[in-house]
Amino acid sequence: MKILHLISSPRGEASFSIKLGNAIVEKLQAANPGSSLITHNLTDSPFPHLEEVHINSFFTPLENYTPELAEAVKHSNEAITELKNADAIVIGVPMYNFGIHSTLKAWLDHIARAGQTFSYSENGPEGLVKNKKVYLAISSGGVYSEGPMKVYDFTESYLRSVLGFLGMVDVSVFRAEGLNMPNLKDEALGKAVESIIL
Ligand SMILES: Cc1cc2nc3c(=O)[nH]c(=O)nc-3n(C[C@H](O)[C@H](O)[C@H](O)COP(=O)(O)O)c2cc1C
Repeated sequence: MKILHLISSPRGEASFSIKLGNAIVEKLQAANPGSSLITHNLTDSPFPHLEEVHINSFFTPLENYTPELAEAVKHSNEAITELKNADAIVIGVPMYNFGIHSTLKAWLDHIARAGQTFSYSENGPEGLVKNKKVYLAISSGGVYSEGPMKVYDFTESYLRSVLGFLGMVDVSVFRAEGLNMPNLKDEALGKAVESIIL
């Protein structure tokens, strides 16, 4: 199994989404001996925000590339190749202001490309990144899996939507939540790790 682990917390060893993501990776490796692992910390080497040159590179046919466009499309090409090569994608998702960290959004902006990862046919859009297993390791200060704050969670709903649009429909979600709540924080990671079912 080829595993891709994407990290989007800037908090290094203190990060709960990284710890939870690592626990998922370890279980995958234990269940699939000989697996390969690529880990990308998106906060160490962020994908650039989409600028005009990136957009132009996405929509210009290869034969018309200028050196500038060829350079601009490299991030996207590399990320898409890496994604398509992976069997399992583990994504660490710290909740920031009810959504995902901007470095994960930037990565998504580089992998969502017409003709590469999705296409439009007469029957509507079709995702082209198929047969992947995705695991989300979501960490948050509050509780969003149930209760009054559930409607404020734009991490899981957004990621299921955009990944599903690209063809990645097999998504499992694990949450370390309540990390800022005195009555929940000590148990949150342990419970999340225990909840991991591959
Ligand atoms: C800038 C910032 C924004 C945050 N926004 C939220 C939020 O909207 N809801 C929430 O429950 N927790 C929020 N938190 C708390 C984080 O989700 C929590 O600390 C989580 O553990 C971060 O993931 P990490 O440990 O992997 O870095 C925020 C933290 C920071 C630093």
